[in-house]
Amino acid sequence: MRLALDPAAQDLLFREARTANTFTSEPVTDEQIRAVHDLVKYAPTSMNQQPLRIVLVRSAEARERLVRHMVGNNAAKVSAAPLVALLAADYEFHEKLPRLFPHRPEVRELFADRAVREESARFNATLQIAYFILGVRAAGLAAGPIVGFDTEGLDREFFGAREQRTATVLTVVNLGKPAENAWSARLPRLDFHEVVTTV
Ligand SMILES: Cc1cc2nc3c(=O)[nH]c(=O)nc-3n(C[C@H](O)[C@H](O)[C@H](O)COP(=O)(O)O)c2cc1C
Repeated sequence: MRLALDPAAQDLLFREARTANTFTSEPVTDEQIRAVHDLVKYAPTSMNQQPLRIVLVRSAEARERLVRHMVGNNAAKVSAAPLVALLAADYEFHEKLPRLFPHRPEVRELFADRAVREESARFNATLQIAYFILGVRAAGLAAGPIVGFDTEGLDREFFGAREQRTATVLTVVNLGKPAENAWSARLPRLDFHEVVTTV
């Protein structure tokens, strides 16, 4: 073992962390989410773009509007979780680049084209989703990420009509303390030799 991270933390973040299908009724507080954000905000993105936006779906009315767009048994999972968040990519992230990349404020102009910045927003927000999931685990919570939803319907519901839409939902994530038997069977992972080559 050549890792600097202590073994208990390795277990918490990776080996024993699982994707939860069901949760206890224990609430997830804003303070917990703030602590997660305060940690994972330091993880890197290209040109420090930070396009991830997180919408905490707390009201019963908003949960209802969300569940409508979930596919198959994802609807039941989202209905029952103590907290659900929309993890979205902000297509207007470039407006903040002069502040976030101050030594080269002109990089904002690289993203003048909508298609270019949509691609970059999706790529970097996806990275940040992975960091967020690990942060949730670091807080002693479990995450249940879900991409089984009607993207167009969900985006219209929360971010308005297509013409003025400035963000898209990449992942919906259930959050909470896992219930007993919250897991499906652990699936196999690829071996080192299947993933890593040396040239
Ligand atoms: C980005 C992402 C999207 C996922 N979407 C769904 C989904 O739509 N429905 C579902 O039941 N599980 C979904 N999952 C759960 C995965 O199948 C699960 O995380 C994976 O099999 C690993 O499970 P484990 O953490 O228990 O080992 C998703 C996971 C991720 C990371």
